[in-house]
Amino acid sequence: MVERARRDGERLGAAPVGTGTGAALRVIAAMLRARHVIEIGTGAGTSGAWLLDGMPSDGVLTTIDVEPEHASRARRTFAEAGIPPQRTRVITGRALDVLPRLNDGAYDLVHVDADTEGYPEYAEHGIRLLRPGGVLALENMLWHDTVADPASRDATTVLLRDLGKSLRDDERLASALLPVGGGLLVAVRR
Ligand SMILES: C[S@@+](CC[C@H](N)C(=O)[O-])C[C@H]1O[C@@H](n2cnc3c(N)ncnc32)[C@H](O)[C@@H]1O
Repeated sequence: MVERARRDGERLGAAPVGTGTGAALRVIAAMLRARHVIEIGTGAGTSGAWLLDGMPSDGVLTTIDVEPEHASRARRTFAEAGIPPQRTRVITGRALDVLPRLNDGAYDLVHVDADTEGYPEYAEHGIRLLRPGGVLALENMLWHDTVADPASRDATTVLLRDLGKSLRDDERLASALLPVGGGLLVAVRR
């Protein structure tokens, strides 16, 4: 099922998380016993399926994607995985239109895997949305390994490098950059 979702994600141009990242997300969701999770960047639902697998059986994933076609493929992924419909809320819309409507401090885990230009604002919303002890998880923070190379200065690399530094130094967080997939930055809300 996850394999089919992955293939459809590739076909739709919504690069799915790999197995290592999916497994890491599942472990984080399980460690937190995360009952309230937000995801920015649903794609075909691969990462959502991993998250739901780690969450308790009454946990609810709210996942946001701007592309209606991706959202409907993700709904099918979740149905094929046997996930009861009340456990997922798939919202079609721009993340920055949806996030301000969500409640402060109400979520255990926020997963970000969408347009990189939006990451600084998604991270700030994520910090606002998390309860103390909740986790912010951002994909692709090594950006094809260019972030660690000071000679690489393209706009996306610089944006992600600066964001990584600012999250590392943020006193509201304790963070680590895990070398899994494209680089998974995890940060616990103190
Ligand atoms: C890398 S894919 C997500 C893959 C997904 N996490 C998975 O593992 O299957 C990025 C997704 O972000 C969505 N996206 C891009 N910009 C967005 C925005 N401003 N708001 C919401 N979603 C956005 C794209 O439509 C795409 O489906």
